[in-house]
Amino acid sequence: MKISVVSKSLSQITAQALLVFLFADKTGAEEKLINEALHGQVQKLRQSKDFTGKTREVRLLFGTPLFSRVALTGLGQIKTVSLETLREGVGAAMAEIKKLPIKNLAVVLPRLPKYSPAEVAQALVETLLIANYEFGHYKKPDGSHAEIAETKLLVLEKREAKQAARGGAAGEILGLNVNFTRDLGNHPANTVTPRHLAKHASELGQQHPNKIKVKVLGRTEMKRENMNALLAVAQGSEEEPQFLILEYRAKKSAPMVVLVGKGITFDSGGISLKPSEKMEEMKFDMAGAATVLGIIKTAAELNLPLNLIGLVPAAENLPSGKAIKPGDIVRSRSGKTVEIVNTDAEGRLALCDALDFAKTYQPDLLIDFATLTGAIVVALGDDLIGAFSNRENLLAKLQQAARVTGEKMWPMPLENSYEEFIKSDAADLRNIGTTRYGDSINAALFLQNFTAYPWIHLDIAGVAWATRSKPYYGKGATGAGIRLAIEFLKSLSKKLK
Ligand code: BES
Ligand code: ZN
Ligand code: ZN
Repeated sequence: MKISVVSKSLSQITAQALLVFLFADKTGAEEKLINEALHGQVQKLRQSKDFTGKTREVRLLFGTPLFSRVALTGLGQIKTVSLETLREGVGAAMAEIKKLPIKNLAVVLPRLPKYSPAEVAQALVETLLIANYEFGHYKKPDGSHAEIAETKLLVLEKREAKQAARGGAAGEILGLNVNFTRDLGNHPANTVTPRHLAKHASELGQQHPNKIKVKVLGRTEMKRENMNALLAVAQGSEEEPQFLILEYRAKKSAPMVVLVGKGITFDSGGISLKPSEKMEEMKFDMAGAATVLGIIKTAAELNLPLNLIGLVPAAENLPSGKAIKPGDIVRSRSGKTVEIVNTDAEGRLALCDALDFAKTYQPDLLIDFATLTGAIVVALGDDLIGAFSNRENLLAKLQQAARVTGEKMWPMPLENSYEEFIKSDAADLRNIGTTRYGDSINAALFLQNFTAYPWIHLDIAGVAWATRSKPYYGKGATGAGIRLAIEFLKSLSKKLK
């Protein structure tokens, strides 16, 4: 979708549809204008209660010679309106508009009392892009879900135009990059292999030659690095594992943040094979990796004043004559030995070598993104990220970013007393707990063994893949974590530690 921000009056632009946001309890200047253009229709709709302005309410009308259609969309009470209410409104309106043969759209930038025009424009534009997204690489669209090709964001107040343009530009970067990440998650595992992820990483380096540096380790280099836990996961597959290193360095004095993303391009479970039902969904077990690529790309394009390193251990988890077996013991890069009791708990194995490798960067903070455990889906459902940290104040900061972006997280405990469950009789650690209970915590405790720096672990198993339509995105890969991480990273202005 091509997006432009224009500062004009309602009578100066044309579009196939005009999207206008209205409150339930306030009729402002915008409403007056649109009511006049529609010869009093909005007032009539209000009086008859055909349109009340409640959240997510959408009313499509035939318009004027300039706009053949108008979509009135409710934002609820002005007192409680938030950026998330706006995003949900955009989602509801786009769902209706996409059913019609409409290719271009104009959207009136609403004024939300607690937010600047830049914040509103950013949320609006990012959501337009996210809601417009369709994954159509293997199937022609059926016509009922046509993408909008062009959108003009209409700023009625001239003095807000500059700010709105700035916010709109940031929103465009975010929206496009969330969709880039969703594409990686939606493509099947016969397309998105570890080498395919590496190719995308290299492309990022080529697109931003002065900003992003990319290095890829193959099997030989990984052996030299003693990444034996990661290599163990990969050994049952014909696909060569890859270890991606992306570097975006803004300035020396800025904080050094390392991002790690789980890149299992297909998780069959290995010899501890998963049941076949829904196994096809395990192509999204590289969602953490895709999120890390998306964050680095976004940070570079927004010129965030931070140093970011992205690390992606990428491998495919398959059973074969060469595959790891329950009971195998590997010596991880850190020197700690791990008994692989269950080959389906492969994420922690892949991640532990990346977490150890990260030490060379002396991170002020490391954040990992991983579709790590089914247990986090049981605990928190499909809307909340499970967040663990060895520094509690970091989770409070993250929670704040979550409130801004609408990407929800919930703090989870690194419960010391459960550490006994991941002790092995034969090795330093076992990769699953001696009990099934609290597996998300067991997994996080396992990872904690390899961290010696401030660390946040985000278990995104529940949120990275939508099996139901959400207010502003459809089924499939969600690109979860990008908007949250960018908002959080922006707030990390001063040096941590
Ligand atoms: N990739 C899965 C976790 C997962 C499950 C992600 C559901 C998304 C949705 C992970 O590698 C895994 O298989 N975990 C096992 C661990 C168990 C063997 C201790 C699980 O959660 O069942
Ligand atoms: Zn698994
Ligand atoms: Zn997995």
